[in-house]
Amino acid sequence: MNYITDYFDETKMPDEALFQELVHFDELNFPYAWTLNSWKDFCRTRKFHLFLYRQNGQLQASALFEEINDGEVGHLHKIAVDQSARKQKIGYNFMMACVRDLLERGLSGIYLEVATKNEAAIKLYEKCGIEVQRRVKNFYSNGDDAYIMYNY
Ligand SMILES: CC(C)(COP(=O)(O)OP(=O)(O)OC[C@H]1O[C@@H](n2cnc3c(N)ncnc32)[C@H](O)[C@@H]1OP(=O)(O)O)[C@@H](O)C(=O)NCCC(=O)NCCS
Repeated sequence: MNYITDYFDETKMPDEALFQELVHFDELNFPYAWTLNSWKDFCRTRKFHLFLYRQNGQLQASALFEEINDGEVGHLHKIAVDQSARKQKIGYNFMMACVRDLLERGLSGIYLEVATKNEAAIKLYEKCGIEVQRRVKNFYSNGDDAYIMYNY
């Protein structure tokens, strides 16, 4: 099964309707949702890779990466699976498809930060071969600690 049904980057920008859909999806499914302006600013100013997975037209999963270290590494900013579709291996299959795609595009690995209390995400990343490297205290604005994880 193909877990990447839509792909966008700075050469193929999301249109207004998709930005609105992403904000709505974020608000429903992501712990730190971005505003419409944050989404647009990010896509205008960063070298990004946005992956989507739809079933019957409905957005089921999204992941947003940014190229860092001169395009060597993909920094995962957010991944989410729709609440109604969780725990069915969609997150795992989708994340693995995104990682494979980025490696095929020439990146050497994935880097990310995750709240130490986000057990589901940490387990998912570990299952995908991305390992905890260290803990950063008070990483998030609400005081939560983060793990730094990467696979290169
Ligand atoms: C993290 C998230 C993407 C996982 O998506 P998912 O489709 O439910 O994950 P999968 O069904 O593919 O599960 C993959 C693995 O993750 C782990 N996992 C998933 N949900 C879990 C949960 N609620 N508790 C503990 N581990 C969990 C398990 O190890 C699982 O493997 P297993 O089924 O073999 O045990 C989803 O929970 C989500 O969207 N969370 C909100 C957004 C978020 O926090 N994103 C990460 C920060 S950017």
